[in-house]
Amino acid sequence: MIEDLKKAVQIIRKAKYAVVFTGAGISVESGIAPFRGKNGIWSKHNPMFFEIDFFKKKPFQSWQKMKELFYDSIDDYKPNIAHTVIAKMEKRGFIETVITQNIDNLHQQAGSKYVYELHGTLKTLVCTECSSDYDLSFADMNFLPPTCYICKGILKPDIVFFNEKPPHFAMQRSKQEATKSDVMIIIGAKGEVLPAAEIPELAKKTGSKMIEINIDRTHFTDTITDVFLQGKATEVLGKLGEMLYL
Ligand code: APR
Repeated sequence: MIEDLKKAVQIIRKAKYAVVFTGAGISVESGIAPFRGKNGIWSKHNPMFFEIDFFKKKPFQSWQKMKELFYDSIDDYKPNIAHTVIAKMEKRGFIETVITQNIDNLHQQAGSKYVYELHGTLKTLVCTECSSDYDLSFADMNFLPPTCYICKGILKPDIVFFNEKPPHFAMQRSKQEATKSDVMIIIGAKGEVLPAAEIPELAKKTGSKMIEINIDRTHFTDTITDVFLQGKATEVLGKLGEMLYL
């Protein structure tokens, strides 16, 4: 592993435009369960509640599940050392942007400035009628589903539901960043969900060196990864942070 860490540090130091791509695995050590694998959310809860058609038909049931899974404990989640090291890498100029599939806002809480959220964020709610968007603090979670102050329409978390398209801006900018990058660091992503998983593939296709950090091998490991650092995000990023003197 130490040889691979040294190789990764060398690639990062030489990078002209390094970009980070993260998945649920980076937030596991902040207490947020991943979606797949051991203790995965989808092994305990039916993804049906996160289908956009289900939400439109039964918003109350969908909101009840989201409250149980995310909103009841949203204030308990804090960034971990992996998020913090990435924010420090941005400040020191080792990386330019973060592209994340996560909806937990932990990169921003850790201090990352340029974050593209391919699957949206729990922190904002959007009216399904008049498209007004609100900070989460406006919603009273004791009365579900929360309704719009302006038109009484039902509010929806600003996250990408199954069978919904990712936000255009985040997707387009992520494609530009992947194309422009000469190094991409993939952290805690299984690579099974499209179109998000196309972003690392695009980076590889346009010549980026690919560093992957994960506790397990993934779809990326055997296809596009150049340096695979197997381990927990906090442990590997902690070591990288030391070796970059952050
Ligand atoms: N450190 C590093 N990697 C980890 C850790 C950890 N502590 N714990 C888990 N992982 C890895 C797992 O090995 C797996 O590869 O993180 C990945 C988590 O996979 P998923 O749960 O599928 O998360 P992700 O790839 O982000 O899922 C993408 O699927 O359901 C949708 O919208 C949801 O954004 C999510 C998308």
